Amino acid sequence: MENKVATRITGTGSYLPEHIMTNDDLSKIMDTSDEWIFSRTGIKERHLAKDESTAFMAAKAGEKALHDAGIEAVEVDLIIAGTITSDYVTPSLACEVQEKLGAVNAVAFDVNAACAGFMFAFHTAHVYLQSGIYNTALVLGAESLSKIMDWKDRSTCVLFGDGAGAAVVRVCEEDEEKAGKKGLAGGRGILAFEQGSDGGKGMVLNCCGRKNHNPLVKNPWMPSYVSMDGQQVYKFAVGTVPASIQRVLDKAGLRVDDIKYFVLHQANIRILQSVAKRLKADIGKFPSVLDHCGNMSAASVPVLLDEMNRKGMLEKGDKIVMAGFGGGLTWASAVVEW
Ligand code: UT7
Repeated sequence: MENKVATRITGTGSYLPEHIMTNDDLSKIMDTSDEWIFSRTGIKERHLAKDESTAFMAAKAGEKALHDAGIEAVEVDLIIAGTITSDYVTPSLACEVQEKLGAVNAVAFDVNAACAGFMFAFHTAHVYLQSGIYNTALVLGAESLSKIMDWKDRSTCVLFGDGAGAAVVRVCEEDEEKAGKKGLAGGRGILAFEQGSDGGKGMVLNCCGRKNHNPLVKNPWMPSYVSMDGQQVYKFAVGTVPASIQRVLDKAGLRVDDIKYFVLHQANIRILQSVAKRLKADIGKFPSVLDHCGNMSAASVPVLLDEMNRKGMLEKGDKIVMAGFGGGLTWASAVVEW
C-alpha cells in the first residue's frame, strides 16, 4: 500500500512495576540459578507487578507518551492496546485506559497477537490513519505476565516480566514548514510493514486463560498457565524474523546497512544474536532491555523504543526496523523513518 500521508511516532512512554525480582531472588524459590538464566537468555532481573494492574501500567505509559508528544488526551481519537493479560475480558484494556486518561473522544479496543501485539496494534493504527478515518492514535503494549505463569515451571516463568509501553502515532506533514505545530515535523514515519500468522503452530506457545463455567460441560477445568515448547519457539523466531525483516526492507527499497537500529521483541539475547547473524548486521544495532526487563511480550518493543527515545538515540531521518513475534504464532515488522 502506498502511503497517502506520513504517519509518525510523535511521542513514547513506558512504565515498569516497582518490584524487581532478580535471578538470585528466583533461585531462592525454585531450582534455578543466575548462571543458567543469564547464559541462556541475557536476563538478569525483571519487574513484577504487585499492586499495579495492567491498566494502571498502560495508562501511566500512555500519559507519558502524550506528554512526550505534547498533546492532550482529548485529542486522541483511537486507542489500540496489544495485550494478552488485560485485567478483564471486558472492558478491554484500551477502554480502561481511555477512562483513566480521560480520552473521551477516542475509539478504543484491544488486539491479541501475544508478543507481536504492539506491532499488530501499530500497523492497525497506521492503516486507520492512512484511510483518513482518524488522525491521532495512542498505541499500547502492556502485560502482567506474572499472573499467567506457572511458577512451578522453571523453564517458562524465569523468562517473563511485567510492564507497559506506549507510542503516539499521528498523521503528519512531511514538510516542516507546513507541519508548524510542535511534534509534527520529522521523517516520513512508517515506510513499510508486513505481518503474518501461523495458527497451525499455535499450541507451541499457549495459555487457555480462563475457566469454563458452562453447566453442560462435565470437566470444565483447563490449565490457565502459559505452556511453551521453548525450542520450537526458538526455531520459529530465528527462521521467521530475519525473513520478515528482509521482506519489509525490500518493500521499503532499503538494505540492512541503511538501518540504524533493529528494535526487536525482547524474547532472548540468543534470538537477537541469531537474527543479527542471519541478516549480516552488527549486533550493536540491536539495542536490548532484556537484562533488566525480561520478556514482556507485547510491552517489550514499546518499552525498548521509549528507553532509546529517552536516551536520545533516535534522530530525525534515522531509519529503524521494529519487529515483534510470538504466540499465535504471529509476527510483524515495520520500517520507520524517525
Ligand atoms: O516471546 C517468545 C517467548 N519464548 C521464547 O523466547 C523461548 C525461546 N526458547 C528459548 O529461549 C530456550 O528454548 C529456553 C531458554 C526456554 C530453554 O533453553 P534450552 O537450552 O532450550 O533448554 P532446555 O529446555 O533444553 O533445558 C535444558 C535443561 C533441562 O535439564 P535436563 O533435562 O537437560 O537435565 C531443563 O530441565 O535445563 C533445565 N532447565 C533449567 N535449569 C535451571 C529448564 N529451565 C531451567 C531453569 N533453571 N530455569
